[in-house]
Amino acid sequence: MSIGIEIIGLGKQLPAACVTNQQIAEKTDTSDEWIRTRSGIRTRYFCGDGETQTDLAAGAAANALADAGIRPEEIGMCIVATATPEYVTPATAAVVQKRLGLQEDIPAFDLNAACTGFVYGLQLSAAMLNSGTLRHPCVLLIGAERLSGVIDPAERSTYVLFGDGAAAAVIRASDAKRFFCRLGVRGDTEVLYGPTKEKQEPFLHMNGRAVFRFATETILSGIALLEQESGVQAADVDYIVCHQANQRIIEHVQKKRKLPHEKFFMNLQKYGNTSAASIPLALADMKEAGLLKPGVRLFLLGFGGGLTTGAAYMEF
Ligand code: COA
Repeated sequence: MSIGIEIIGLGKQLPAACVTNQQIAEKTDTSDEWIRTRSGIRTRYFCGDGETQTDLAAGAAANALADAGIRPEEIGMCIVATATPEYVTPATAAVVQKRLGLQEDIPAFDLNAACTGFVYGLQLSAAMLNSGTLRHPCVLLIGAERLSGVIDPAERSTYVLFGDGAAAAVIRASDAKRFFCRLGVRGDTEVLYGPTKEKQEPFLHMNGRAVFRFATETILSGIALLEQESGVQAADVDYIVCHQANQRIIEHVQKKRKLPHEKFFMNLQKYGNTSAASIPLALADMKEAGLLKPGVRLFLLGFGGGLTTGAAYMEF
């Protein structure tokens, strides 16, 4: 078990426009029934004119600071996990630093591990918080995406799945709360990739079946690894929070491991796949629903483009 951390505040920010499956079916050749039965998704949010990925990141971060009850001066590092930053440079985290009035003597940067970004960020936060090098006691870790800008209505198998949104966590070091994390990657440019200027492909591409296989294998092996290395069994954790990509992926894992349905928190019905924002959005909704009481133990499982993998055990 590695060094401990605790999440002391969570916040989210969604675009104003909620888009139903029916509205999606007006833009691409699909139906509400197909989307619901193949993915579990009912609605998602898309940014409108004037709404940016940075706005979502900053809004979620401000809400997380308020939830934690801390001042911007107490943030010692700001990370934005994202695959869809508003600018290549400056990093979204740099703009958030200014907008929120965070100190200027902190590292602030973006991290791209696609849908696993938040889990990567947790591991990095744990390492930095325990390194003694940060000048202020907390880390602000944000997952923020505007995927509506990189999906193509002409490619219906991706267009129906993704959404925009952001969520943030305020994290500090803890002697009492244990944290354990394993990350991985298997460099792949075929299964899930894009957009890329060099190949003049402005949209995200995905081999749905291959991703489905990768996702179920990754979650199952991640759970087994967490059980082995953290010493806590899946049956004993309160919730398993998987990256919210597809209800069928999560149900496959639940059945395979013969675990109760209620152990797997799901909110993908409302938001679709929001990539790096998906796990913190789940945590923010769990907190709002009163599920993250002191002592609650979680497994977090991320997977995504890269192909990246991340499995974490944490305590509240
Ligand atoms: N609406 C209607 N029909 C669609 C469709 C849509 N949005 N997308 C695909 N189809 C069609 C296909 O064209 C195909 O038709 P055909 O049988 O006439 O050729 C049929 O549905 C089945 O396609 P298939 O790709 O085999 O469907 P599936 O059951 O595998 O479901 C996904 C597709 C994308 C929902 C599923 O593969 C999946 O969820 N994969 C994982 C995706 C994911 O999680 N990505 C993010 C990871 S971070």
